[in-house]
Amino acid sequence: MKSYITLGIETSCDETGAAVYESSKGLLSNALFSQIELHKLIGGVVPEIASRSQLEKIAPIITAALEQAAMQLSDIDVVAVTNKPGLPGSLLVGLCFAKAIAWAQQKKLIGVNHLEGHIFSSFLENKVPFPHLCLTASGGHTALFLVHGFGNYTLIGHTEDDAAGEAFDKIAKLLNLPYPGGPEIEKRAQEIGFQDFFQYPRHNPKSLDFSFSGLKTAVLYDLVKRKFYDMHKKQLLSDDQELKNKVASSLLVCMGDIFTQKMSLALQKYPEVKAITFVGGVACNKYLRKRLHEVAQAHKLPFFFPSPQFCTDNGAMIAFVGNYKAEQGKFSGWDLDILK
Ligand code: KG4
Ligand code: ZN
Repeated sequence: MKSYITLGIETSCDETGAAVYESSKGLLSNALFSQIELHKLIGGVVPEIASRSQLEKIAPIITAALEQAAMQLSDIDVVAVTNKPGLPGSLLVGLCFAKAIAWAQQKKLIGVNHLEGHIFSSFLENKVPFPHLCLTASGGHTALFLVHGFGNYTLIGHTEDDAAGEAFDKIAKLLNLPYPGGPEIEKRAQEIGFQDFFQYPRHNPKSLDFSFSGLKTAVLYDLVKRKFYDMHKKQLLSDDQELKNKVASSLLVCMGDIFTQKMSLALQKYPEVKAITFVGGVACNKYLRKRLHEVAQAHKLPFFFPSPQFCTDNGAMIAFVGNYKAEQGKFSGWDLDILK
């Protein structure tokens, strides 16, 4: 098989990522700029701010990735770029930049689906056997995949509304906690011992699909019932830290129950799987990892999750997928778009 050197570019949301991956040597570099500080002020990602920042950072981040790999653009064989799904303005920055580089340097171009990037992010540090089950949970997506091989995977369950990370972010905002909500919820849940104080509702146990918008409403109504939230003024009436810790803890335990229940159901339906993986920004969460690890152990299966730098959005996972697509001869044309 021909070997390739691939430059991966990720700009689908609020991270600008670039990385170099080589078929024989693996990951050579990984550069990232995260916009978290910009969006903290508003408490969520503002698309217009995100795309402007992408435009500012794309050139320096690609330069950093090339420098870390001790390479020049002319050394690259393939430019791989996230072309969907994501925020249109942000995606277009990466896609146009990738096309310009590939055109000017006469290199091959490959469009990578952002979710495929997350699914295979567990391979950056591990050899994961096929077939396996992959739970992808981030701020934009929550889905279960049956993964058969490189580039070969089936969606077996997905969220009908909000993503898991989005639920953490929205509920954190409700509690006047900083963005992103996930790490703050985890910290507070740990402080109070990962107990289920408020028993928020769990979703349909028979389906592999997820639904989190009801969870946010349940938390809201529970706070109203306890006279901690004013629906008319749309504001929290108390700054009681213990209450916030209890909500965070109950929410995390609820999420843990949902994830483990869906994974157990998927294992019943697909007994042939040889491993479980947990990827995406929410997979940074140690409590949720532990819960899923327990499911894997109960089924005597290995459990894999990427280190935090590869859980949240990054260029490395895009370079990795682009690299195997190059090996498979799956190149894109100049008509590569963010919609198809
Ligand atoms: O993968 P990612 O960087 O971006 C998307 O593709 O959406 O994921 C960001 C999401 C945010 O919603 C954030 O709250 C969540 O990942 N997150 C966490 C943790 N760290 C980040 N959720 C739970 N626990 C964490 N430790
Ligand atoms: Zn992502």
